Order: sequence, then C-alpha cells, then structure tokens
Amino acid sequence: MNVVTVSELTKNYSTGMKKGDFTALDSVTLQIEPGEIFGLLGPNGAGKTTLFKLLLGISSITSGEATLMGYPPSNPKSREKIGYLPENHRFPEHLTGLGLLQLSGRMCKMSEDMITSKVSELLELVDMSKWANTKMKKYSIGMLQRVGLAQAMINDPELLFLDEPTDGVDPVGRAEIKNVMLKIRDSGKTIILNSHLLSEVEMVADRVAILQHGKLVKIGSVEELTNKKLQYEVQGDFGETLLEIPSDVGKLQSLSRGRMVVELVDESKINWVIDFLRHKKISLRVIKPIKITLEQSFIETVTHKKEGV
Ligand SMILES: Nc1ncnc2c1ncn2[C@@H]1O[C@H](COP(=O)(O)OP(=O)(O)OP(=O)(O)O)[C@@H](O)[C@H]1O
Ligand SMILES: [Mg+2]
Repeated sequence: MNVVTVSELTKNYSTGMKKGDFTALDSVTLQIEPGEIFGLLGPNGAGKTTLFKLLLGISSITSGEATLMGYPPSNPKSREKIGYLPENHRFPEHLTGLGLLQLSGRMCKMSEDMITSKVSELLELVDMSKWANTKMKKYSIGMLQRVGLAQAMINDPELLFLDEPTDGVDPVGRAEIKNVMLKIRDSGKTIILNSHLLSEVEMVADRVAILQHGKLVKIGSVEELTNKKLQYEVQGDFGETLLEIPSDVGKLQSLSRGRMVVELVDESKINWVIDFLRHKKISLRVIKPIKITLEQSFIETVTHKKEGV
C-alpha cells in the first residue's frame, strides 16, 4: 500500500477579487511508497507548502483526493503515524532539548515510561544526548534542527514531513542531518522532504517531484532525472578514425582521440554504436550515460516550462 496517495488534488485560494480564485495546486496526482525519501521541489510559490498543508489537514482540499496510510486528511487517524518538522519553527526557548521531547511525548499521550525510553533513544539518534539538559536558547541552528527532527519522531511515525530541515545549517550540520535522514529511512520510515538545497536532495532522495505554478511538471527517481537523456560518453582508442553516425541512429556531438559523445535517437541504438565501433576495431574502455546534477535538471525543467516550449 502507498503511504500517501494524491489524486487530482487542487487548492484554490480565494483572492477576494473579481478575477476569481488563485489556484495554488492544480490537479496534482502522485503516490509515495513506503520506505522512500521523496523530495518535493519547486520554485518559490510553486505549491510545495500548500501540498504539505492539504496532506496534514491544515488547509481544506478544494477538489480531488488524498490519503495518508489509507485515511483522508479530514480523518484524524491519518495523523496518528505522522511526524512533522515545520519550516521556520520556534520551539519554546526556555525549554531544554530534553524538556521539548518530553512535552511532545505528553502531547501524544505517551506514558512517562515510554517517554523516558523514547527520548533517550531519539537524543542518541540525532546526537544530542550531551546537550539534552541545555536550554534551547543556547542551541545553534543545526542543534535546533536536530532536536526538531527528534520531536517529529517522538510518536514513532511511519511518515515524516520535513520542511527545509537544513535551512540555515552549516555544511557540517547539514551532513549530520543528512545522515540522520538516511538512518530514519533505513529503519523503514518514509520521508517527504521539502528543500531548496538540490545537491542535498540529490544525495538523500530516492524519488523527486517538481512542482511549478501548482502543477506537477516532473516526477521520477533521482537517477532518471539526472541522466542526460540519450547522451552517451564512449571512451576508447579512436586515434584518427573518422566516424559517421547515421541520422536514424543519432548524432555525433564530439570526438577526440580518447573520447566520443553521441546523442541517440533512442536508447536501444547504443547497441548499434557498440557494434559499429567494434567492427572498426576500436578498443572500448567505458560506455556511460552522461549525467547532470539534479540542480541542472531542475533548472532545465522549470525554465523549459516557463518558456512554454
Ligand atoms: N492562505 C493563502 N491565501 C492566498 N494565497 C496563498 C495562501 N497560501 C499560499 N498562497 C499562494 O499560493 C502559492 C503557493 O504557495 P506555497 O506556500 O505552497 O509555495 P511554496 O512552493 O511552498 O513556496 P516556497 O518555496 O516559497 O516556500 C503562492 O503563490 C502563495 O502566494
Ligand atoms: Mg513553502
């Protein structure tokens, strides 16, 4: 069963103006599978937080459907196995990290014994045990985010919503949070991650969705989004050989003594290229699809859509 299903989900905000409502989320359909880190990407105003709010039951759905663990967001049962780290959170500064986790446990109606064991397990997980008795006003942003992750997990959730968990955190702190996310995922939980730091999303996410102007414009695995479609690099001993690639196979992009780049008309044509090069007695060392970063893929996607190409 999918942890989250979203079907034709639409959110219109009333603008109070004659021109009508504003569509913040426009017929979005997607599924999130158990045990994955799902990255939600999009430029400012794309509808990411709106989607979070609809799923968490904070905003009402205009049309379409959503389920979490099989329940619609209007049913409180949908939130029983959920953890949430909001963007720009403000925890009470006079509390210690330990105090925050205890308070969160009590709000989830956990027994005191249960709270004691869960809190020490979580402080350990986010590497905050030694700061547990320090007031949060003394915490760095990285420490606040780590303790925030721990409070989101107090009720042993199946699904975690993390809105910009590394916002404002330095590189060492980000690496620590990344490791915590991977540990959480490896323990079988599902994470929906909303982040503008695409290099980071690339490192942790299994799949990503790109929203733009409220619409889902791309969804796929990180692998799929970062493969420069149909461009292959071939390394080998080309020497002075002149090569011509027929147009029904593809187009030669560049050729040097040791490296060739070819763009194919479809993926299966790589076999033709290999046979062709071997027939010409060219010794091959490496054949690999050309990769781009998630950031490049994202920029290509959103600028492509903006130009309406
Ligand atoms: N309560 C509201 N009333 C009217 N419009 C809203 C409301 N909340 C959000 N919007 C609008 O809906 C659009 C989507 O907003 P949303 O907060 O979901 O974007 P986002 O993708 O989270 O952006 P960011 O990356 O800046 O956090 C924006 O144009 C925003 O101004
Ligand atoms: Mg947002």
